[in-house]
This record gives sequence, C-alpha cells and structure tokens, in this order.
Amino acid sequence: MIEKASLDDIEEILFVINTSNREAYRDIIPREHFKEPVVSAEELLQDFGRMRFYVYRVEGRIVGVAALQVEKGKLGRLRWVYVLPEYQRRGIGTSLVRHLEREARKLGLEKLWLTVVGGARWAVNFYRKLGYEPTGRTERHWSFDLIMEKKLKNREKL
Ligand SMILES: CC(C)(COP(=O)(O)OP(=O)(O)OC[C@H]1O[C@@H](n2cnc3c(N)ncnc32)[C@H](O)[C@@H]1OP(=O)(O)O)[C@@H](O)C(=O)NCCC(=O)NCCS
Repeated sequence: MIEKASLDDIEEILFVINTSNREAYRDIIPREHFKEPVVSAEELLQDFGRMRFYVYRVEGRIVGVAALQVEKGKLGRLRWVYVLPEYQRRGIGTSLVRHLEREARKLGLEKLWLTVVGGARWAVNFYRKLGYEPTGRTERHWSFDLIMEKKLKNREKL
C-alpha cells in the first residue's frame, strides 16, 4: 500500500496536500497567514529533487503522503505528512511515518525532526503517540512553529 512516489504522482500528491491542509488549518490559522494552496506544482517538483516522497494508496488512489529529507549529521526531517480528510483516523498517517522511520534507519540516520503547527492538537498528539517530543520553537508564528524530535533506535522493530 505504501510505495515510493514517482513524478507521475505529482498532481495527485498536490491534491492530497492542499485538500488536507485547507480542511485542517483554514479555521485555525488567521487569514493573513494562511497560504492557499500551501504548495504549488513548481515547489513540489523542487522538493522532489531534495526529498524522498512516499504515497499510501487505496484501490490505486493516493490518499496519504509523507516525505523524508536527509540532512547532515545523520539527521532526517519529516515533511509533507498529509492524509485526505475522509481517510484520517485509520492508521494511514502512522503507517507512513513508520515507513519513513524504517527508511531512515536503513540510511543510517540517528534522529528525525519536524515542525508542526503547535495549535493543531491532533497533529501534536499524532507525533507524540509515535514517540516525538517537543524540543523548541521556530519564529514562524501562526505556522509550523513547534519543533519535535525523535531519536531512532536500531533495535526498534516497527
Ligand atoms: C496528522 C495526520 C497526518 C494524521 O494521520 P491519520 O492517518 O489520521 O493518523 P492515524 O490514524 O495514524 O492516528 C494516529 C493517532 O494520532 C492521533 N490523532 C490523529 N488524528 C487526530 C485527531 N483529529 N484528533 C486527535 N488525535 C488525533 C490519535 O492519537 C491517533 O490514534 P487513535 O486514532 O488510536 O486515537 C492527519 O490528521 C492529517 O493529514 N492532518 C492534516 C494535516 C496535518 O496536520 N499534517 C501534520 C503536520 S504537516
């Protein structure tokens, strides 16, 4: 169900990210700070060059997406973790993040980090349940302002 994304998936991935982002954040982020769509085709293409994208399919349709950006110092960053609203709360987001963690371990990464909208309790809950802990704040008020991290243990079999 989870596979590495290809360039042919760009349109569907854009739809998943922008639909999910709009539904989740338009009522909690003030209008002047709310970016819609949150990502354009050009921006996503650029990200394809610097991150590994994975998609979750149900009957061939992409309903979830997540990306891993490898950084210096055995560090990895989780990006673009989004599930279509009608497919949320079924464990798809958890499967995607666990898949990224397995990939990260294979690459020898020791720690993963991400930023999340601190006011989005569901998202903070989601990452906490997966073992991520808040470690700091960014300057991006009304946006992805909370930093969360997790150390990867090699013996952890997920
Ligand atoms: C965050 C997101 C990716 C989670 O994906 P998901 O497939 O719904 O998550 P799961 O079903 O694996 O949920 C795992 C746990 O996360 C927590 N969680 C997920 N959605 C939640 C919600 N709406 N409210 C409270 N807790 C929630 C719960 O603890 C849940 O476990 P439970 O269902 O057994 O209670 C999804 O809600 C989403 O796309 N949201 C909009 C975009 C977003 O906020 N992305 C993350 C930051 S980029």
